[in-house]
Amino acid sequence: MLKDKHIVLGITGGIAAYKSVILLRLLKKAGADVQVVMTPSAKEFVTPVTFASLSGRPVVSEFFTANTGEWHSHVDLGIWADLMIVAPATASTIGKMANGIADNMLVTTYLSAKEPVMIAPAMDLDMMNHPSTERNIQTLENDGVIVVNPREGELASGLVGKGRMAEPEEIFKAVSDFFAVYNQLKGKRVLVTAGPTYENIDPVRFIGNYSSGKMGFELAAELEKRGAEVILIAGPVSISKKFGDKIKRIDVVSAVEMYEEAKKYFPEVDIAIFAAAVADYRPERHEEEKIKRENKEELSLRLVRNPDIAASLSKDKDGRLTVGFALETDNGIENAKRKLQSKNLDWVVLNSMRDKEAGFMKDTNKITMLSNLGEEISFPAKSKREVAKDIIDVIIGK
Ligand code: C5P
Repeated sequence: MLKDKHIVLGITGGIAAYKSVILLRLLKKAGADVQVVMTPSAKEFVTPVTFASLSGRPVVSEFFTANTGEWHSHVDLGIWADLMIVAPATASTIGKMANGIADNMLVTTYLSAKEPVMIAPAMDLDMMNHPSTERNIQTLENDGVIVVNPREGELASGLVGKGRMAEPEEIFKAVSDFFAVYNQLKGKRVLVTAGPTYENIDPVRFIGNYSSGKMGFELAAELEKRGAEVILIAGPVSISKKFGDKIKRIDVVSAVEMYEEAKKYFPEVDIAIFAAAVADYRPERHEEEKIKRENKEELSLRLVRNPDIAASLSKDKDGRLTVGFALETDNGIENAKRKLQSKNLDWVVLNSMRDKEAGFMKDTNKITMLSNLGEEISFPAKSKREVAKDIIDVIIGK
């Protein structure tokens, strides 16, 4: 799987650098071509000679070789690589990466990277738990960096806690998992709707719902990782996730706007995943002026039906794969099966409001997937990121 894959392996100045020698061995044995980039302080822990001999390539550390003046191009490395791994990633390098401080070859290479990037943090537990480190790791995750979480265990300082770099075998597995699905959906176009819709009552009020958009955004990110081109139509969400060039994000407010955009792109896609929590009704009138309270004891709003985006587009889907969600409080399976039929969907992802791990504004979800061929697959509660992987694996029949 890793045969002839080009990997940039970044080493930073942490005691766990010695474990990266084993990681390099594993990558090389699996057939990858590895270019090691070291920060100046990494060389205090393991000498470049070790990495150079095992990788079969001179280690890059400075912007140019002092005695020959040979320039090392971080831009060329960015074009060459299929994946960049920073292991160990110290608090300092994570901070620089998150904030674009390009004062060494490794961070400069990161900023020029066209390829996906993976980090394996390693540091003492107090540094790991510091709000600044947590913030920086979150920033990198939002920027699309894959994080191989550190483990709990004995640390070089003698303290015991979270901060120990994942074992080389674990990082190697994350790399293998990455390449297993890499470019799996290359050439495919996918439409994803996400978030709530807001239906305006007057200039300051609306009818909305608690959907955060997290599930739809995780789906978009995972589809992008697998090489798909994604049209992400998002209702009003507070997610500022930065995506690569392969995701086109279109922000809308109301169900009608979401429908208009989805209708425009649906003919161009192979798969459509309707993850948005679309308001079923909107006020018949949108008042131009703020409605005054005056002396009214009651106020009636007349609501009219919104278009059902999933049902209306799936009606004439012409070979496209369509996936909907069902968030139910009771009779989940029954209702999900009905939705499969009435909306002409291939799959329905059911999550129950009764499960404490599922629902709006949560980071986790617990799903059952039902197909129009009668399949029924249940998963345990997982993070929405893991759930996104499961959903995609199932619908593409991996
Ligand atoms: O019927 P219900 O709202 O429970 O169906 C949920 C599924 O239908 C979700 O996939 C949702 O995105 C989609 N839907 C839609 N347009 C609507 C209502 C729901 O696309 N107006």
